[in-house]
Amino acid sequence: MPLQIDLLTLFPRMLDGFLAESILGKGIAAGHLAVKVHDLRAWATDKHRTADDRPFGGGAGMVMKAEPVFAAIEQVQTPGCRRIYLTPDGAPLSPTIAHRLSQERHLVLLSGHYEGIDQRIRDGVIDEEISIGDYVLTNGTLAAAVLIDALARFIPGVLGEEKSLTHESFTNKLLDFPQYTRPAEFRGMSVPEVLLSGNHAEIEKWRSARQLEKTRQVRPDLLK
Ligand code: ADE
Repeated sequence: MPLQIDLLTLFPRMLDGFLAESILGKGIAAGHLAVKVHDLRAWATDKHRTADDRPFGGGAGMVMKAEPVFAAIEQVQTPGCRRIYLTPDGAPLSPTIAHRLSQERHLVLLSGHYEGIDQRIRDGVIDEEISIGDYVLTNGTLAAAVLIDALARFIPGVLGEEKSLTHESFTNKLLDFPQYTRPAEFRGMSVPEVLLSGNHAEIEKWRSARQLEKTRQVRPDLLK
C-alpha cells in the first residue's frame, strides 16, 4: 500500500502545479504515494463558510476555528494515522523526521492560517507539530508541500537511483560536494583535473575534502 497523504488547507489550488510536476509528480503517477488536497471550507457549516474568527482576549488577526477542523480531521483520519500541524512553533523539520514520516501508512497534514489556530485543535486532534524553518509564511500550505517533497524522496522508487540518496547534503551531516558535467571546459572554466582522472580513490578523497571545506564555510554548526 502506498503512503496516503491527506492535506487540509484553505488554499487547495496552491498545490495543483506542485503535485503534478517533477520527480514528485512522477512518484504520484507511478503510485509510490497518493496525495489528496481538501478545502477546509467544505467543513464550515455556517452560511458564510467561516473557518476563522477573532481571538478571545483580543489582539490582531484571526484564529482558525475548532469546529471545521475537528470535523475535517475526524472524517479523513484512519486508525493509526499520524496527524501533523505545520507551524513555525513546531519541531524543526530534519532528514530524520522526513525519513520517519516516509515510513508511515497515512499522514493527515493540517495547514494553518492567519495568527494561528484554536489551541483545542492542537490538544485534541494533532499528534505532531512541524516547522520548516525560522521564518513565518502567510499560511502552512507551502510548508506542507516542503514536507511532502522532503519525505517523498525517502519512499523507495520515487528517486530513480537509490544511490542518489547516499551522497547528498546532510546524509552524513556534511554539505554536498561540487558537481560538474560536460563540457570539460566552458568559457575558460575547466572541471577539476581529478574528476577526469578515472581514479576513484582520488575522486572520493577530493569530494570529502570539498564537503568539509564547504561545511566549515557555510554551516560550521553541523561540525560541532
Ligand atoms: N506556517 C507558517 N510558517 C511556517 C513555517 N515556518 N513552518 C511550518 N508552517 C508554517
